[in-house]
Amino acid sequence: MNEIHVFWGLYIASAIIAVSMLVLLFFVSAPYGRHIREGWGPSISSKWAWIIMESPAIIIFIILYVISDRRTELVPIVLLVMWMLHYIQRDLIFPFFLRTNKRMPLLILLFGLIFQSSNTYIQARWIFHFADSSSYTISWLTDPRFIIGAVFFIFGYIINRHADLVLRALRKPGEKGYKIPFGGMYKYISSPNYLGEIIMWIGWGLAVWNWAGLLFVFWTLANLLPRARSHHIWYKETFPDYPEERKALIPFIY
Ligand SMILES: NC(=O)c1ccc[n+]([C@@H]2O[C@H](COP(=O)([O-])OP(=O)(O)OC[C@H]3O[C@@H](n4cnc5c(N)ncnc54)[C@H](OP(=O)(O)O)[C@@H]3O)[C@@H](O)[C@H]2O)c1
Repeated sequence: MNEIHVFWGLYIASAIIAVSMLVLLFFVSAPYGRHIREGWGPSISSKWAWIIMESPAIIIFIILYVISDRRTELVPIVLLVMWMLHYIQRDLIFPFFLRTNKRMPLLILLFGLIFQSSNTYIQARWIFHFADSSSYTISWLTDPRFIIGAVFFIFGYIINRHADLVLRALRKPGEKGYKIPFGGMYKYISSPNYLGEIIMWIGWGLAVWNWAGLLFVFWTLANLLPRARSHHIWYKETFPDYPEERKALIPFIY
């Protein structure tokens, strides 16, 4: 068996797990953050869980870039920069600024680690190795799919960062409770951080224009659609004065 068979085996397994997860998470909300509850085994501080869980996205991506014959080509370098723009923030900055005392079950951490490792391998190995050599020549940077994808990616990144910063500002250092967030996209939806994340990975999917990118879009939706719904229901149950017109994830629609 050669590597391409392993690659597609992993791809198909990931796609099947993503579909199962999409269905499951509508019935059982992932037990971390406000949805943490007893019965999920040992846990660790969520800050450390985020750092550990997201670290393969940096380590594996860099290793696969460094060993690639394409490491001096411009388009793979641009895609590397886009990826790192997000993951350096998510793994090495975001966790240190969290104002939470929550813990995360080791089970979730383990699942996150497995997902992050396999997804990073699939994304990076395709770009740096399996993609047809004509896919990512310099002319790709002026292709409408890349340009629209890059615009979506940056737009989603900005929405996600702003929304996460609004949440962070809701608690003073040492505070633990929850408040209703206002400002920016919170005027319209309960989880703009998730909407931004989804837009960003749709942008990535367009910018790389391959099966790997499509899988990542699906994974993100499978994770965040049900979680946005759970958050929205939780807000409405927790705050009687929660803004009536606010939707869960898509302004005016859902
Ligand atoms: N790509 C993916 O598949 C994926 C999956 C999951 C998450 N993410 C991204 O990772 C980031 C964090 O996700 P998350 O699920 O932890 O987001 P979250 O549930 O919105 O929580 C983010 C942080 O804000 C705090 N917070 C949330 N709502 C609050 C409120 N109303 N009042 C006060 N504090 C509040 C939380 O505290 P507590 O910890 O105390 O609840 C937590 O520290 C997001 O940007 C998300 O898009 C991506």
